[in-house]
Amino acid sequence: MNNKGIGVFDSGLGGLTVVKEIMNLMPNEQIFYLGDTARMPYGTKTKETIIRFSKENTAFLLKKNVKIIVVACNTASALALKEIKHAFNIDIIGVIEAGARAAVEMTKNKRIGVIGTKATIASGAYVGAIKKYGPKCSVYSCAAPLLVPLVEEGWLSNKETESILRNYLKGFGPKKIDTLVLGCTHYPLLKPLIKRIMPKVTIIDSAREMAKTVRAILEARDLTAMKNNRGKSEFFVTDTPDTFNKVGKMFLKKDMVMAKRVVL
Ligand code: DGL
Repeated sequence: MNNKGIGVFDSGLGGLTVVKEIMNLMPNEQIFYLGDTARMPYGTKTKETIIRFSKENTAFLLKKNVKIIVVACNTASALALKEIKHAFNIDIIGVIEAGARAAVEMTKNKRIGVIGTKATIASGAYVGAIKKYGPKCSVYSCAAPLLVPLVEEGWLSNKETESILRNYLKGFGPKKIDTLVLGCTHYPLLKPLIKRIMPKVTIIDSAREMAKTVRAILEARDLTAMKNNRGKSEFFVTDTPDTFNKVGKMFLKKDMVMAKRVVL
């Protein structure tokens, strides 16, 4: 048993989809969340930049004395996980592996689609991870850069969002995928719309898979928090907390404590 917190970082507020799943699965855990809102989006940046930002985010969370660090951002997981694991002496886990493993477990016809930011898709990280668990799987990827701003605006079911999504997803039709990985923090909020467009396809929500992995690791190391843990989760951002606090409610589906602005 260990009542230290779980550190979670993302480029912005999308990682709250992971926080929500962790809170659902492990209600006793205290979470320290950092959203690097001043420097988001990461999805359009270079590997060097994403590594530098990810190291600074990790160093900040370590000051909160956390027991594990969760890289909720798919882009940071795809491009910087190896480097930050090497640089810091603590368990650090990324979203890619969990989503890839779940996709391989779920697919029946071994044809898997992945959507993510430009940087995530260009890195080939999902293809590599899926092939590791399912060497016989065919993987088809599509960068969907317009979806993050739409979700940030709260456009979750507008006809414009549906039309853009249909455009991104239409390439998967001829590939006959039966499983689609949502390879970006923001996409779980579009799940109802994606389900409507692709009703027969199994959708892999990396956020949920990630929370299951965190629980498995903490249980295996006997690091889960005690039932009477009174630690309150805390949220930090690197730019004004206003939008974060407003849109954050939509992500967490409950009132959250106000985020504090910090300088890294
Ligand atoms: N958090 C990023 C991801 O999951 C999306 C937003 C961004 O581009 O920074 O890839």
